[in-house]
Amino acid sequence: MATVASAPSIDPNVSTFVARKQKMLINGKWVEAASGKTFATYNPATGEVLAQVAEGDREDIDRAVKAARAAFESGPWAKMPPAARGKLIWKLADLIEKHLEEFAQLESLDNGKPLAIARVADVPLTVEHMRYYAGWATKIEGNTIPLILAPANKFLAYTVREPIGVVGQIIPWNFPLLMAAWKLGPALAAGCCSVLKPAEQTPLSALRLGELIQEAGFPDGVVNIVPGYGETAGAALAAHPDVDKVAFTGSTEVGKLIIQASAGNLKKVSLELGGKSPNVVYDDADLDSAIPQAASAIFFNHGQCCCAGSRLYVEKKSFDRVVDGVSKTAEKIRVRPGFDPDCDMGPLVSEEQLNRVTNYLEAGFKEGAKAVAGGKREGNRGYFVQPTVLVNTNEKMKVVREEIFGPVVTAIPFTDPSEIVTKANDTVYGLAAGVWTRDIKKAHATANRLKAGTVWINCYNVFDPALPFGGYKQSGWGREMGHEVLEHYTEVKSVCAAL
Ligand code: NAI
Ligand code: MG
Repeated sequence: MATVASAPSIDPNVSTFVARKQKMLINGKWVEAASGKTFATYNPATGEVLAQVAEGDREDIDRAVKAARAAFESGPWAKMPPAARGKLIWKLADLIEKHLEEFAQLESLDNGKPLAIARVADVPLTVEHMRYYAGWATKIEGNTIPLILAPANKFLAYTVREPIGVVGQIIPWNFPLLMAAWKLGPALAAGCCSVLKPAEQTPLSALRLGELIQEAGFPDGVVNIVPGYGETAGAALAAHPDVDKVAFTGSTEVGKLIIQASAGNLKKVSLELGGKSPNVVYDDADLDSAIPQAASAIFFNHGQCCCAGSRLYVEKKSFDRVVDGVSKTAEKIRVRPGFDPDCDMGPLVSEEQLNRVTNYLEAGFKEGAKAVAGGKREGNRGYFVQPTVLVNTNEKMKVVREEIFGPVVTAIPFTDPSEIVTKANDTVYGLAAGVWTRDIKKAHATANRLKAGTVWINCYNVFDPALPFGGYKQSGWGREMGHEVLEHYTEVKSVCAAL
């Protein structure tokens, strides 16, 4: 807490918030864990304890699910007109916007990301996301189906989309507030009730969000927030027999556990998982644009993005220039604590991630990879890693095959443009991909053959609430955002009436 107190620009609301023991939100009340236990959340820039948080477990999850069930089946939420739901979501967006600086600071302290980035990305994107789904509350429609089996045998047939019920939402630590919005926005628009479990590394912004959810006037039990560990609270939520649907963002490994846990009551599952996204630069690309964007494709959020452009494939003639450009960009990135005004990149989120990423680097060097920029931990306090560009890599190496989830890109040249898509698709993942070329036909032909949920052409990391996002293959099930995600939060009922 010393760091918080000594940071020059700390918001007074943030310092009191982190100094207070954080409780969980169940049925509109802030309560301790049933066990009385708490866990610590850390400031990754220093490794010091940032705050103490109530540690949810099976019993707390059970209480939260009961509250969500009651709010869903009876009570004001169940009867609320869609327009009123939309208004509440919009009001929540306004409140988040009003407290933008506070959220940006909490996010920077808990996750490590640059304060300046949280101010212009995480928090405003959260606000926009909520507003987009506020609009959807009144637009969830069914169809009328022409059903005439014989001239005298006619029916009025129509479908309605009903909220799926109680949803369990388990989110990761890389964009803590934004991931809460990706989950809550569509669930609330559809009329569901939620039990949200934030990541144990970064529970604070979700808890502050819970206060604003109450201030906005959502009825008790509509959103319950239970912080805790994945193996306990998360697993209990995924397995709970009275949860109708679970939405998960995180590792592919845990995604598979969620599927197993869901089997008990066959709850619906949507998963947004890992990636090892190829970023393909052809010789005819505008390299002045491709180079800085290939760098930010991997280094944005310290590489802790499921869609990070971590496999950079460059056509042979341009390889040296692109690698040199990306490496020079990497070397200019100032790696500092998130609150430092000169910070371009903060620490990784946790000691566990630091060890994971540095272990990958070591494995890469053992297999013959060479770092042309970075290559190691930065300093010995906090969880900082240098932005790293690896060459001399090939498709057999761990660093090319596995998700590193840190600021590490592998650059590989290619000579045969007809083979590059096969190489790009040679992964168990299929979340995103980038293509750089001035040839419009080549761009779309490449996009057409890539097995990825999002293909960016001459751009990268472009997100909008209206644009669906999710993965092929082991990158997940279903899509977040757009109107697509609403399918996960609704059941379709066909009604057929004889005329
Ligand atoms: P994780 O998948 O373990 O954690 C994500 C969320 O799942 C957290 O809320 C966690 O508490 C919960 N969880 C963990 N085990 C669970 C279980 N058995 N049942 C239910 N919920 C559970 O991810 P972790 O360990 O933080 O990071 C490991 C790797 O996962 C990263 O290095 C990265 O490769 C990947 N990852 C991918 C993310 C994405 O955006 N797709 C986000 C975070 C991590
Ligand atoms: Mg884990």
